Amino acid sequence: MANNSNLGAAKAAKNDEFCTQYADIQKEINAYLEYDSDTFRDKTVLLPCDDPEWSNFTKFFAQNFERLGLKKLISTSFAAESKKYKGYEPTLWEMEAPAFDPGKVNTNGKIFILDRDTDGDGHVNIDDLQYTYLDGDGDFRSPEVRRLRDEADVIVTNPPFSMFREFLAWIVEAKKQFLILGSMSAVAYKEIFPLIKADRLWYGPSISSGDREFGVPDYYPLEGAGCRIDNNGRKFIRVKGVRWFTNLEHGRRHEPLRLMSMKDNLRYSKHKDVRENGYPKYENYDAIEVPYTDAIPADYDGLMGVPITFLDKYCPEQFEILDMCASHGKEPRGIPNESPYLNGKWVYNRVLIRKK
Ligand SMILES: C[S@@+](CC[C@H](N)C(=O)[O-])C[C@H]1O[C@@H](n2cnc3c(N)ncnc32)[C@H](O)[C@@H]1O
Repeated sequence: MANNSNLGAAKAAKNDEFCTQYADIQKEINAYLEYDSDTFRDKTVLLPCDDPEWSNFTKFFAQNFERLGLKKLISTSFAAESKKYKGYEPTLWEMEAPAFDPGKVNTNGKIFILDRDTDGDGHVNIDDLQYTYLDGDGDFRSPEVRRLRDEADVIVTNPPFSMFREFLAWIVEAKKQFLILGSMSAVAYKEIFPLIKADRLWYGPSISSGDREFGVPDYYPLEGAGCRIDNNGRKFIRVKGVRWFTNLEHGRRHEPLRLMSMKDNLRYSKHKDVRENGYPKYENYDAIEVPYTDAIPADYDGLMGVPITFLDKYCPEQFEILDMCASHGKEPRGIPNESPYLNGKWVYNRVLIRKK
């Protein structure tokens, strides 16, 4: 395996148990608070794929309950998935929980709720993470968790990779605010791109390149240089192409890109191919090819095809997004959504944009 495993591999392995690191959650949430310290104030936050025993989302939101000004925190977990891989082995923490019944193999999901008035002392700490069990297995599609979704204002989690589309649709149909982690390639999905185009979904601010480390269960096979076992024997894997997907406002997306004119790009661009080839027009679109986001000409009024990584820098006040061009057959047919074609070759994935 190469240095980085990717979310596609996780999907292929049907392994949906990656554990998000506390620092990654903290960094992302802090960016929203810097923009608006009231982002989560008086809100009910649901973490619907988060085992209160180990999820860092649960830990982070519980520990920061007061700082965020939350009204209520609800964290639920799914029982069936881990049981399938591990068999049933209650953890020490689980055995100590008041709801634990040693005579019964518990296949129910867990639920942890933190209310402003939980213990009345106005102070929350991690020892308060006492959970009980749901009536069902905690599947986010179950009527029980659906009711919790309807009660929530904001849904936050790293959902199962293999169910990303379904999970986002579940949030969108309920018209909720959300912050979820996923693979950047999901932007090309036909269910997701229209939301980006309509400015109803955008990338979060804290990840725009590189890879991130996730905890993996003991049974996960570790291979390659991107894997690590810490001093406590916990396994980790590095994953590239991860992004936060959200409809929470943040500052970064309103910062326009600083760009040069077309004339200056042709003379001074750091990209040799731009200086030498300029901005050729596609054969199947009335649009020019812009192979790098930092080479977008500031003064071009027509359509431009840019790489998907443009979305990391997208400012809706600066550009309008028109289309995702990612499908391709043998040769161009002039149909919507097909990739641009240039010099007899597909250019593969491009986002069509126009200056505002
Ligand atoms: C990628 S892991 C992330 C876990 C946790 N949210 C985190 O970030 O550390 C996805 C989690 O979703 C859970 N899951 C899988 N299918 C689910 C379902 N249908 N409903 C709810 N949770 C599910 C898995 O058990 C797993 O714990």
